[in-house]
Amino acid sequence: MAHIKTIGILTSGGDAPGMNAAIRAVTRSAIYNGFKVKGIYRGYRGLITNEIVDFKTQNVSNIIQQGGTILKTARCKEFTTPEGRKLAYEHMRNHEIDALVVIGGDGSLTGARIFAEEFDVPIVGLPGTIDNDLYGTDHTIGYDTALNTIMWCVDRIRDTASSHERLFFIEVMGRNAGFLAINGAIATGAEAAIIPEISTPEEQLDQLIQNGFRKSKNSSIVLVAESPRTGGAMALADRVKEKYPQYDTRVTILGHLQRGGSPTAQDRILASRLGAAAIDALIEGQRNVMIGDDDEKIVYVPFSKAIHKDKPVDPELVETLRRLSI
Ligand code: F6P
Repeated sequence: MAHIKTIGILTSGGDAPGMNAAIRAVTRSAIYNGFKVKGIYRGYRGLITNEIVDFKTQNVSNIIQQGGTILKTARCKEFTTPEGRKLAYEHMRNHEIDALVVIGGDGSLTGARIFAEEFDVPIVGLPGTIDNDLYGTDHTIGYDTALNTIMWCVDRIRDTASSHERLFFIEVMGRNAGFLAINGAIATGAEAAIIPEISTPEEQLDQLIQNGFRKSKNSSIVLVAESPRTGGAMALADRVKEKYPQYDTRVTILGHLQRGGSPTAQDRILASRLGAAAIDALIEGQRNVMIGDDDEKIVYVPFSKAIHKDKPVDPELVETLRRLSI
């Protein structure tokens, strides 16, 4: 650790509410501990295009409540090539950056892992994604806000669904992970969630219909996790229209609405705790780890685990939803 004087910080991949709170926490905690901080714009792309500026404590004033990321973000193809990463490393060294804090999801942490190994750079990651799909942390930064946004939207759809006595399929984000869908369904009293972690979507749908999910109700809401494995809400609705034409079916895709908005208290606090812990980790000589939150305790999760191990959806959630939707 003795050689770390300057820490670079970047946000990468899909933005998530609370990323600004994390940038603030990393910056302030680093300065508090005597480090210099450099803000890197547009994720890994900014390392390649040399968009790197000094960050002082005032650079992160008044941002804790803002959605998005003041550092901007990108999904950067060039960084997946050895030439791109070499250029990134050269710019990093020109700015005398000794260590990086990367805030992002699995793609961003995968990039961090490769870069750290190739150039022997100490990197600490923060789980920043609405998907909640990183192993080793109970929650990712942005997940709680997205869940609350879903709840807000579904509550409104419920009004019209019930007035028209319709069956609504509502597609939520999650990229192959069902956390937003299953917990969104529990929070809104939806009849079901179709998620990629359990059986096929056809089986889930047939079971739902066989269970007579409209026996006691005249409208229904089914949350569908976006994923090639569920086929998405459109495909499921088409299947229902064909097989069960008695239902008046509609589809809503919530899309990027779920990525915006002011972060909830929970996301601000999580981002602040994990951001401060990222600097502690660098001081302790940690590298190639993601900072996670396990039962309210800070944990260091090796990138290899955070990225490659599947984070399971708790079967208790699936059972709770099933029981409460009778
Ligand atoms: O990983 C976050 C996420 O919002 C996923 O849920 C979604 O599949 C993806 O990003 C969308 O990416 P983009 O904003 O690049 O379309």
